Amino acid sequence: MTFNLQQAEARVRARTARSLAAYERSQRTLAGGVSTVLRRSAKPYPLFFDRGEGSTLYDIDGNAYIDYTLAWGPLILGHAPRVVNEAVGAQLAKGHTFGAQHALEYETAELLCKAIPCADLVAYANSGTEIVQVALRLARAVTERSLYLKFEGHYHGWDDSVLVSYKPSMEQSGAMAPVPVGLGQRQSPGAVVARWNDEESVRAAFAAHSGRISAIICEPLLCNSGCLPPGDGFLSFLRETATREGALLIFDEVVTGFRLALGGAQQFYGVTPDLATFAKAAAGGLPVSILAGRREYMNWIADGRVVHAGTLNGNPLALAATHAVLQELASSDYRALHARGRRLRDGLVDALRRKGAAVVATGEGTCFQLHFQASTPREYRDTIAGDKALYAEFLMALLASGVYALPDGRWYLSFAHGDDVVDRTLAIVEAL
Ligand SMILES: Cc1ncc(COP(=O)(O)O)c(C=O)c1O
Repeated sequence: MTFNLQQAEARVRARTARSLAAYERSQRTLAGGVSTVLRRSAKPYPLFFDRGEGSTLYDIDGNAYIDYTLAWGPLILGHAPRVVNEAVGAQLAKGHTFGAQHALEYETAELLCKAIPCADLVAYANSGTEIVQVALRLARAVTERSLYLKFEGHYHGWDDSVLVSYKPSMEQSGAMAPVPVGLGQRQSPGAVVARWNDEESVRAAFAAHSGRISAIICEPLLCNSGCLPPGDGFLSFLRETATREGALLIFDEVVTGFRLALGGAQQFYGVTPDLATFAKAAAGGLPVSILAGRREYMNWIADGRVVHAGTLNGNPLALAATHAVLQELASSDYRALHARGRRLRDGLVDALRRKGAAVVATGEGTCFQLHFQASTPREYRDTIAGDKALYAEFLMALLASGVYALPDGRWYLSFAHGDDVVDRTLAIVEAL
């Protein structure tokens, strides 16, 4: 099956002339014309947007799109939710940052400690990349060990120490040595690499580096490489292994946090890590990141033995947003959202199969992925065989019909996506 790529691309180009002009202008002064490397992969070129409202995004040519990218995850309440606008607006008038203490820090921390199972204490930073570094530093300090274990395909930010073995090719991944993603990265990141949902590879890693691994870090639902859930008992196995080996268990909940459940993947799957990192959905679109953890470990930050610093940490605007998002989510119906997401996921799979595609879906209702392949992937390597060219065609056909989704097959749902939006999306896909 095909989606007539050329026709779809011609339709997109015809209606996005202003975006193309803006992209050409931007590249003259902004490196690459985009602010983060992944956005460059957008086809036929990165679009420029004017505004977002609920589940809808409007580009600068005036086209409206049902948005399933949600800014790569943060917009759990949709675009520009009123509660966040009001909270940030009120704070704007009172000052943007103090470089000192204010009530929103502890008021938000209280909500976080109530919601997140592993949270006795929290600490703030601005991005997911930063907060993962705090977690890994803390684990090294507590255990007096220098290595950490990560899984192939998992993404933990762009720092040298973690940007390894993220989507390696089959040839690169064979030896299980950490594979740097780009040029200029340090050669000894301290990472030991294992395979997701593969207990044997975790045992082998600990056997090979006995007494030297400070932490196991993972995306508890592998969102960045296929939305691959943990297999039955796998997170419990990681929990037991970390405890037995004297290492800390870190859940990187930068995507799953406040998305799978208010208490994150740890609440959703019922396994509690020692430390967990959050960002994206926490502030619903403003820059904040959070480290949550058990008191005995977080005390190392509390008393300054482990340095955690940052000029804009605890920024009042970002925390006003976080506080408003958490309050809103506390009374939101996650079960209904997951059910709606599953209806969308299953409807997309059915529609695509009726068109003759070999397609499977993985993930949960609020974050799932379509794979153009016959068998359901369990780990990163299983996703390599998927038909990426066909997915790119599908994506272009969607874009031409007013549906905006991520290039890797991932779909995010927000509380602003009602049943009517799901119905409309399914009707569009049916008609492709
Ligand atoms: C699981 C995970 N961890 C960490 C990060 C890094 O977060 P940031 O982009 O805010 O630095 C990301 C970003 O996508 C992520 O998905």
